[in-house]
Amino acid sequence: MAGAGTKRRRGVLPIAAPAHLRDKGKGLDMAEHRTEPRFEEGRFVPAYPLRRQEDGFTFIQQLGLIRDATKNPLRALSAGTFRDPVVQTSFLGYHLTQIADPAMIHHCFVENRNNYRMSALRQAMFQPVLREGLLTAEGETWKHARKTLSPIFTPKNIARFADGMKTTIDRDMPAFVRAGETIEMSQITTALTYLVLSDALFSGEISGAREDVLPLIANVLGSIGQPHFMDLVGAPTFVPRLGRGKGMAHVARLRELIREVAIRRLDQKERGDALAEDFLTTMIGAAGEGAPFTLDEIEDQLVTFIGAGHETTAQALTWMFYLLSQDTEARARAEAEVDGLDVSEAPVSWIDALPFTMACFREALRLYPPAAAILRQANEPDAFGSYEIPKDGVAMLHLYVLHRHQKLWEQPDAFMPERFLGEAGEKIDRFQYLPFGVGHRTCIGERFAMVEAAILIASLMRRFRFDYAGDTPPHPTVRLSMQPEQGMKMRVSSRE
Ligand code: HEM
Repeated sequence: MAGAGTKRRRGVLPIAAPAHLRDKGKGLDMAEHRTEPRFEEGRFVPAYPLRRQEDGFTFIQQLGLIRDATKNPLRALSAGTFRDPVVQTSFLGYHLTQIADPAMIHHCFVENRNNYRMSALRQAMFQPVLREGLLTAEGETWKHARKTLSPIFTPKNIARFADGMKTTIDRDMPAFVRAGETIEMSQITTALTYLVLSDALFSGEISGAREDVLPLIANVLGSIGQPHFMDLVGAPTFVPRLGRGKGMAHVARLRELIREVAIRRLDQKERGDALAEDFLTTMIGAAGEGAPFTLDEIEDQLVTFIGAGHETTAQALTWMFYLLSQDTEARARAEAEVDGLDVSEAPVSWIDALPFTMACFREALRLYPPAAAILRQANEPDAFGSYEIPKDGVAMLHLYVLHRHQKLWEQPDAFMPERFLGEAGEKIDRFQYLPFGVGHRTCIGERFAMVEAAILIASLMRRFRFDYAGDTPPHPTVRLSMQPEQGMKMRVSSRE
């Protein structure tokens, strides 16, 4: 089928399963649903969910597809999706165009971007929690927010945040990582990246003990990005979304805590007190370029940064440590690099001093893009080559598919960090590797995330080694971010 024209396949949207349907692995033979990890031409190929072989679907096959997709959305992807540049599907009234052709990505997401809005499904998944934060806002609200928030990410501020990241990590790492223990890697990386972020956002001023705030954040993250059945069938917003209540109660509690922090800071500003140099101070208009945000807007932006700004980095780190535990040659090379790092240099410079280690991180972002899919909806009909996207049709950039596409990558499923180094790296098309998105809605926190990753990797790797300790090979699923379906147990040993 490779290279064939427009494909019409019946399928479901590859989105996260509702919490109550999530497959915890109980009573299921997971091996039936994933490949086995293997070495291919000497390169490690981690396990991944099996791809469907069907080209067209009978009704019974469709039912099977829905059942599989609610357990793991990546199981809904067919093998053809990884071979054909564009796949078009109709399902439950959606017209979906899945794009893995760099030229068409450029057309839809850059050149003709004004023809697209955020898709209704994406908004239904994120907006109840994030409201009018930067990730979900559109039009003038988005423009104002982006303009006001951009100064937070200037090189000068990133350098300052990098110093803070190192301080936070040195302070908090001993409480979470100890040699001789077996840890749940995703939980540890999520806790550390949250603590880094909360120091950068509001100097850690949120009230409540860490032991209470971290589980609250975990519950909030579990409430974002989960589509409700009513969203999938396009029911209007006044139709109750049964079962959402508990998640929304956690969100309400987080909003309360955040509002308290913001009000305290506004009072300090009013009194003329010296203000902490963090995201929040920028947001209340002390340093930004746009008009100051209202209290409601500040709250939405802070919830958005918490939702978008730490679990993503944490999951990519988790996968990278797993990949290195299987490719011990690459691990030895990365360890030698971090051991040679001059840690008296400014932390913001570490990223440039670790080219191979950061290539490993980039490769983890390729194999397991934390934000799996980018969804837009056409305002008017659009066309590219022989492909037509109807008015209200959904254009989907599935990063997991793009990053493992057979037409674009050599050994697409293999861990090969050196593909990002030197000449090989320069040959990668700008629109073939997009972990941080594309066009004007590209990730505002990319540099923050990459600098943070370098500091966290170096700090962890100089002291510890992590070996996979799970019973079965980990493989990815999509929830808020791309994560190991059955967790990531790792044994910690000392390198000091
Ligand atoms: C490895 C880590 C990260 C990855 C892979 C990632 C990925 C992405 C992607 C793909 C988008 C675009 C979504 C779309 O177009 O629909 C996005 C947007 C966004 N990200 Fe990130 N992100 C990461 C870290 C961060 C961090 C650290 C922050 C904040 C400190 C952040 C804040 C945001 C925000 C606010 C947006 C919305 C931007 C806008 O629409 O103007 N992200 N991210």
